Amino acid sequence: MDARRPRRSGYRDGVRRDDFTGPADLRAMQLMASRLWTPTSRFHPGQLAWSRYVQPVDPAVTAPDEAISLWRDGTAVVGFGWAEAPDWLEVQVDPAHPEVADEVALWFEEWSDAERQSVITMEGDVMEAALDRAGFEPRREEPWITHHVLDLAELPDVPAVDGYRFRHVEPGEARVRAACHAAAWSDDAPSPVDEAVYSALMAAWPYRHDLDWVAVDASGQMVASALVWLDPATGVGLLEPVGCIPEHRGRGLAGAVTLAALHRLRDLGARTAQVTPRGDDGYPGPQRLYRSLGFRPTARTVTWTRALD
Ligand SMILES: CC(C)(COP(=O)(O)OP(=O)(O)OC[C@H]1O[C@@H](n2cnc3c(N)ncnc32)[C@H](O)[C@@H]1OP(=O)(O)O)[C@@H](O)C(=O)NCCC(=O)NCCS
Repeated sequence: MDARRPRRSGYRDGVRRDDFTGPADLRAMQLMASRLWTPTSRFHPGQLAWSRYVQPVDPAVTAPDEAISLWRDGTAVVGFGWAEAPDWLEVQVDPAHPEVADEVALWFEEWSDAERQSVITMEGDVMEAALDRAGFEPRREEPWITHHVLDLAELPDVPAVDGYRFRHVEPGEARVRAACHAAAWSDDAPSPVDEAVYSALMAAWPYRHDLDWVAVDASGQMVASALVWLDPATGVGLLEPVGCIPEHRGRGLAGAVTLAALHRLRDLGARTAQVTPRGDDGYPGPQRLYRSLGFRPTARTVTWTRALD
């Protein structure tokens, strides 16, 4: 047994903690994110699906250097911690249960053996006080994400781009869709997205192929893409991710395919679109792209770190 792992589950103050046991728990985390969604809340349910399935993964278990715990009050999830690695924690806690924030910080401390640990949270989030109590310090200058929203009543028209057309993906197109994503997302390192990974994404709730849009060139090749995840409970669609393969950049394709996807989102009855690009100056292009489409900033993340002796 992994020495880092604390007790498997436990009760404290009526709230129970359990280790992740598979897709039903991911769905429960997504339902919490949906229930708590605001323009400034940490997660959209689509983000959790994307984050979980964007690399090869066994849906039933966490990776050896990964841990996920859920805190429940009765049957409702009121917080989760997702240690993507010993030095990196993703977290969301129901503001009505601030005590769970301390529990998550303690759980991460017990599980992690990293000398330097980081937690990313929204500015003003219920986690901040708990992180402060646990000895973490805010690093506002470290790269951050700025949440943006767009009122779909103000959606611009889709511009024509000579030589290209826009369409949604069909269910049997995982291989070519994955190739389009990977070619756009391999500037720094090869993308892990292949046919198997994309098939898992397509099977994940709340993926819909009619909200997965691509630009195709005259030969029919997919060259740019925009994937939208619609949460039917809130009517909010998350744009994650957008990409254009290098040879076709700078022609307005990413913006146009995004607008095409958002028009379908609006046709489905959604009211709001969200996107979460980098907000710092280290990678400003995507934020500029989304603002040019009408997205406006709401809140930013802050990375909190602590170094253990
Ligand atoms: C970011 C990306 C999607 C842009 O694709 P693109 O087709 O070249 O974008 P567009 O031509 O539609 O650009 C629209 C606007 O976005 C802005 N923009 C896009 N890329 C930019 C960059 N690298 N630097 C600065 N501004 C940029 C510009 O304001 C541009 O408007 P302009 O034509 O008036 O200059 C593409 O570079 C890419 O796939 N990068 C890797 C993946 C990525 O970072 N995706 C976005 C994060 S989800």
